[in-house]
Amino acid sequence: MSHICVIGTGYVGVVTGVCFADLGNHVVCLDVDQKRIDGIKNGIMPIYEPGLEQLTAQNVKAGRLFFTTDYKEALKGAEFAFIAVGTPSGVEGEADLQYIRGAAESIADNIDTPIVVVNKSTVPVGTGDWVADVIRKRRSGKQLEFMVVSNPEFLREGSAINDFMSPDRIVLGSLDKEAAQKVARLYSSLRCPVLITDLRTAEMIKYASNAFLATRISFINEIANMCEEMGADVREVAQGMGMDKRIGHAFLDAGLGWGGSCFPKDVKALEHMAVLNGTHPQLLQAVMEINRNQRRRAVLKLRKALGGLNEKVIGILGLSFKPNTDDVRDAPALEVIRLLENEGAVVKVYDPQAMDVAAPYIKKAVFCKDAYETAENSDGLVLATEWNEFKQLDFQRIRSLMRNPVILDGRNLWDGESLRAMGFTYFGVGRGNLQNGK
Ligand SMILES: NC(=O)c1ccc[n+]([C@@H]2O[C@H](COP(=O)([O-])OP(=O)(O)OC[C@H]3O[C@@H](n4cnc5c(N)ncnc54)[C@H](O)[C@@H]3O)[C@@H](O)[C@H]2O)c1
Repeated sequence: MSHICVIGTGYVGVVTGVCFADLGNHVVCLDVDQKRIDGIKNGIMPIYEPGLEQLTAQNVKAGRLFFTTDYKEALKGAEFAFIAVGTPSGVEGEADLQYIRGAAESIADNIDTPIVVVNKSTVPVGTGDWVADVIRKRRSGKQLEFMVVSNPEFLREGSAINDFMSPDRIVLGSLDKEAAQKVARLYSSLRCPVLITDLRTAEMIKYASNAFLATRISFINEIANMCEEMGADVREVAQGMGMDKRIGHAFLDAGLGWGGSCFPKDVKALEHMAVLNGTHPQLLQAVMEINRNQRRRAVLKLRKALGGLNEKVIGILGLSFKPNTDDVRDAPALEVIRLLENEGAVVKVYDPQAMDVAAPYIKKAVFCKDAYETAENSDGLVLATEWNEFKQLDFQRIRSLMRNPVILDGRNLWDGESLRAMGFTYFGVGRGNLQNGK
């Protein structure tokens, strides 16, 4: 059993803490947000993540998992301090490291035993060295052994617990192989491949992985737009491509583009780092531009179908950036809503989990209780997030409720042909074989 402190109780921190506790460790999760910690202590999770609430309760009950805002208490006797605070975009697209600095300084001020500081946050290449420097300077005079290890996180919101417990790989970067091995042992019961590299390489693996996945989505979206113009079906194109083992099926779904808490900020941060270091990241720039255009193209389709958007009522199904999470950071739905409202449309919305979180960003929107209320008197209905409950809707009912039966299926979830047979004007993404989008 190891003593672990996890700093930050967002998606990554709370999942990391709860899962390490479930593996039998003594874990203290710390956050500077008192409300968040009080909530968790009262069984209210700060995020929606399937299975998390129950696993948290089990481990708290078993006496292995604790929550606090007190750094002294959290770091007392800790062998590992995992930093899992946010690294949002700064004004120029760079990763804003203020929270990392805050965490590093608090570690420096409060450690009293040798410790391995593990960076789980996604941080620019070179941050591990910088964190070591921040801690060293802060402790000037009071020497204490500490090592910094980079351990980038690859979990996906919506399946975070499973991703933590069954990872494809654990990446550990350090200048001190022994420290990396110590962290590796925390994961040994998961029986997954462990790659040990130097600090900067580990940090780059995370950015390169996210940028590559975003590139795949932008690539298939570019192909989708060609399919629309040339009469092909991108879903079958992606299927045919994915059957090639060298390509595979993942991240080849055309739609409204990528969003969420990671891809947008990480691609931007990598581009920023690249320019700052004298390289020309033209592929990343194109990947971001394709993504922006994908939202605009959806709005263009609606505008054309409805002969303008001013005073048109548009229903949006789904607000979170993907199903099974309430995270709306850089969600495509929010960008589509903004564009629609700019053109004078009235927007109605429904999401099974993300309404409260999204509310501050879409103050003019009308919040509905389900898909049917959203469709009622709408001139257009947009599927922005493919939640399970949207898979099997009563489309006859929706047809009778809508003022104008125009559907924009931004996730290619529905059977366009049968919807057209029911009298809908149906737009998918990249489904040129239905002769739509023109
Ligand atoms: N969300 C994901 O799916 C995901 C996946 C992989 C990697 N990451 C990376 O992990 C990091 C964390 O992401 P997240 O989505 O969990 O963040 P988040 O914004 O949900 O949570 C961050 C938490 O850190 C707390 N915090 C800020 N400063 C602090 C400090 N000095 N001391 C203690 N707590 C502090 C905040 O109060 C907040 O609760 C980011 O770098 C992100 O890029 C996220």
